Amino acid sequence: MKGSFPVTQAFDAAASRYEQYAGPQAHAAGRLAARLAERALPEAPRILEIGCGTGLLTRHLVRLYPQATILATDRALSMLHEARANLSGHDRLGFAAMDGERLAVGGGFDLITANLAWQWFSDPMQAAMACRARLNPGGWLALSTLGEGNFAEWRALCAAQGLAHGLRDYPSSAAWRHHFPADLAITEERLPTAHPSALAFLRALRAIGAQAPATGHRPVSAGTLRRLLRGQGSGFVATYHLVYLLGRPSAEGLGQVEVG
Ligand SMILES: C[S@@+](CC[C@H](N)C(=O)[O-])C[C@H]1O[C@@H](n2cnc3c(N)ncnc32)[C@H](O)[C@@H]1O
Repeated sequence: MKGSFPVTQAFDAAASRYEQYAGPQAHAAGRLAARLAERALPEAPRILEIGCGTGLLTRHLVRLYPQATILATDRALSMLHEARANLSGHDRLGFAAMDGERLAVGGGFDLITANLAWQWFSDPMQAAMACRARLNPGGWLALSTLGEGNFAEWRALCAAQGLAHGLRDYPSSAAWRHHFPADLAITEERLPTAHPSALAFLRALRAIGAQAPATGHRPVSAGTLRRLLRGQGSGFVATYHLVYLLGRPSAEGLGQVEVG
């Protein structure tokens, strides 16, 4: 699995330094865990985590659910290696390489969760529906992902320069509501991150392995990019549009209604 997809190659390459630069991801993991802590799960739940990376959310899961059996998965083997090292000593915690869009597990989970992995999926809705089919009755789906217009400042800067921004397009909250009518509570958050320059922002994405562009995007050369960004002045703010989805989806998509 290592190296077979550009997204996975990028995360594999970044795994050993990921946590030094993953402040927003750690923030989102904390927020997702705080929301989960308010929900009732069985005392010894079966949990599937998708796209676990180095285990930022996994650490919250073992703390919140000490009796749980947890399977933490990721497509990037180096990320899994880091996660294993970061979470050694937990008896009922297992790790496996798995593509979150091709689930190689049966059903019977009380919680399926992912922190900032869904935005890399080619069909996020389909992936969420596949998870829904693997939940026990009353089981929870809890995801954080990115929302429409994420990094609006970078999009605006590229538009002003006549450049393609290269970012992916993510489902709107309305689209999530359409696919999961009434059964997912949606909370949105804007998290600004400050960088010395626009180039530094791009480097920060690369440092966590999050630089793979949208499919079909033809990146301009580093030199051209530097020339275009010269004169931007110092300081660049890029705002994460974080979206938290939490619910107990029923098979019919008409599960318990929650207020975000
Ligand atoms: C931004 S990192 C988040 C990692 C971790 N959840 C965290 O909170 O730090 C995204 C993770 O999703 C994984 N990922 C991306 N696409 C995936 C896929 N199709 N299946 C499984 N994992 C995937 C990447 O390998 C990476 O570890």
